[in-house]
Amino acid sequence: MPSIRHSLLLTLLAGVATATTSTPGWSLVQNGTTGILANQMIIVSPTLALMFDLAGTGGPLQINGKSAWGALYDLETNTPLALDVVSDTFCAAGSILSNGTMVSVGGDYIEELSEAYSAENGTNAVRIFEPCDVPNGEGCLLYDDPAVIHLTVPRWYPSAIRIYDGSLIVVGGSFNFSFFYNTFTENSFEFWPPKDHGAVRDSPFLDRAGPANMFTRMFSLPDGTIFMISGNQTIIYDIEKKTETRLPDLPNNVKIANPFDGTAQLLPLSPPDYIPEVVACGGTTTTEGILPIELSSQDPASSQCSRIMLTPEGIKKGWIVEHMPEQRMLPEMLHLPTGELLIINGGQTGYSGFDGVYDPVGNSNADHPNYTPTLYTPTAEVGKRMSKEGLPTSDIPRMYHSTVTLTPSGSFLIAGSNPNVRQNLTVTYATEYRVEHLSPPYMALERPILSNVPKKVAYNTEFTIDISFPEECGTNPSIKVALMDLGYSSHSFHASARLVWLDATLSSTVNHGQKTNTLKLTTPPNNRIYPPGIAWIYVTVDGKYVSAGSRIMIGTGGSPPVQDQGRQMSWPTLS
Ligand SMILES: *[C@@H]1O[C@H](CO)[C@@H](O)[C@H](O)[C@H]1NC(C)=O
Ligand SMILES: *[C@@H]1O[C@H](CO)[C@@H](O)[C@H](O)[C@H]1NC(C)=O
Ligand SMILES: *[C@@H]1O[C@H](CO)[C@@H](O)[C@H](O)[C@H]1NC(C)=O
Ligand SMILES: *[C@@H]1O[C@H](CO)[C@@H](O)[C@H](O)[C@H]1NC(C)=O
Ligand SMILES: *[C@@H]1O[C@H](CO)[C@@H](O)[C@H](O)[C@H]1NC(C)=O
Ligand SMILES: *[C@@H]1O[C@H](CO)[C@@H](O)[C@H](O)[C@H]1NC(C)=O
Repeated sequence: MPSIRHSLLLTLLAGVATATTSTPGWSLVQNGTTGILANQMIIVSPTLALMFDLAGTGGPLQINGKSAWGALYDLETNTPLALDVVSDTFCAAGSILSNGTMVSVGGDYIEELSEAYSAENGTNAVRIFEPCDVPNGEGCLLYDDPAVIHLTVPRWYPSAIRIYDGSLIVVGGSFNFSFFYNTFTENSFEFWPPKDHGAVRDSPFLDRAGPANMFTRMFSLPDGTIFMISGNQTIIYDIEKKTETRLPDLPNNVKIANPFDGTAQLLPLSPPDYIPEVVACGGTTTTEGILPIELSSQDPASSQCSRIMLTPEGIKKGWIVEHMPEQRMLPEMLHLPTGELLIINGGQTGYSGFDGVYDPVGNSNADHPNYTPTLYTPTAEVGKRMSKEGLPTSDIPRMYHSTVTLTPSGSFLIAGSNPNVRQNLTVTYATEYRVEHLSPPYMALERPILSNVPKKVAYNTEFTIDISFPEECGTNPSIKVALMDLGYSSHSFHASARLVWLDATLSSTVNHGQKTNTLKLTTPPNNRIYPPGIAWIYVTVDGKYVSAGSRIMIGTGGSPPVQDQGRQMSWPTLS
């Protein structure tokens, strides 16, 4: 096995693009390399994915005579462009703000590596990437000067999402170098731009969830409160009232925060009620606090997916448990424009990180890669929601520090994997630079084409776009319109990801023999249902023809914090 993998690796490193086995419908193609380890990944323009690495992995992509630790990956040419990053971005978090600017927060400082790469201490860094639409990224800049702009406290392994006023909430992390568990746990929240004059807010929830509480999974709910999962603890945090309301623990002793990385996602939100539901998958039932040296890379991960409806009745009912077709440590879960979710990456056994357990494989604390994704259909009945049928199988392990994102074209970009302290090309679970492109069946069909999409729309407003679609759809096909945040991928959490369905009415006009199809769409009622900022519109026609994504700014496009906008709704009190 290792030797087969090794020769495959050499073939692929030689720059040969290969198609791997797939059943008709979905396809998986390897094409392109990232040049840095894609430890974090976010789509920042119609053609670019921004990636961050550790300062010191020592990958092949160079800048200023040294290995780069930031890159803009060109989705059209499948090539990376090195980005000049000043501070160490290792295990930072990030999101896009209400004005379209991408912000990366927190990171690392490993003295020896940082000196070798002249990286600055990134533990409290706030890095700013202003919107940049140069197709190949040439000249796009990252502002990174922790001495000038920084968080209140150092945070390594924090998590961050965009909230109702377009700022970021930044949660938890480690205030000093932690090995495996969070031993220097920063049990607090802060915001960027800052609230409370920069004071941090202490969190009993993070304290309870520790020491496996890093990269808290969290979601902006449609009333503006935040649902959080860390360890097996869950709360609703009310930012305005500054209250934590305890909700039911994840069932059956399953935990999903780092270093016990499972994943979680907010299911698509539908008008008119936008009832939020969250699903949490994978992780482990291992008791937190057991010394890593007493844990094994062969310990089975959890196959559990638990789902909760965040209404008074839903909370009373609690988590409904199902099982994936496989166990998963280090999976990631993200939306398709058609409303299903993809569960991908990770292994079937072990834990996050490297060189921690008594029997690492290579250096990996996890083993038995999951080479085939699972599709989760939220609208199906319990027990029938998950399937691997027709999904392609890769031959590239995507273990710790791997990432995935939906792209504007509608295919998924899969990158990264490095359960090693720095670049290691010879070990089992070597540093992975190869990119894979996973295409849902719609990528091989005729694509609907969107035109006249406005650049910016207000909340609770009707607007129109034009659409052309295949002849065979007839005059009155079913239409589903997804408004999506494509999220920020890191550590098995796709932060800020969101899908909100838009009400849509199709009409056709014939002018000089030329037929035009117009979609009348309604934006979400307010800034709490879709936090203000960049969104991508994808249209699905007749359930199978899916357009590429069109970028649109939702809200005023103003810098955070922005005022409440649109029509406010009333919600039952959960917190
Ligand atoms: C790989 O990507 C490049 C750039 O988009 C493209 O020209 C080439 O055809 C692709 N190769 C395969 C095998 O898909
Ligand atoms: C890195 O910066 C943080 C925040 O200022 C500071 O607390 C920490 O001591 C620094 N680390 C080192 C090794 O200098
Ligand atoms: C951070 O960790 C280092 C190494 O374990 C230790 O020497 C130092 O005292 C710690 N700093 C704080 C503020 O806890
Ligand atoms: C959550 O974790 C704590 C600490 O390990 C444990 O005592 C508790 O039973 C767990 N809750 C559930 C529902 O498994
Ligand atoms: C890669 O990892 C193996 C296993 O720990 C180790 O023996 C080897 O020295 C590492 N190589 C590099 C370049 O660090
Ligand atoms: C967006 O807002 C942030 C925070 O105020 C600011 O740093 C950034 O420059 C703004 N970007 C634009 C394009 O206005």
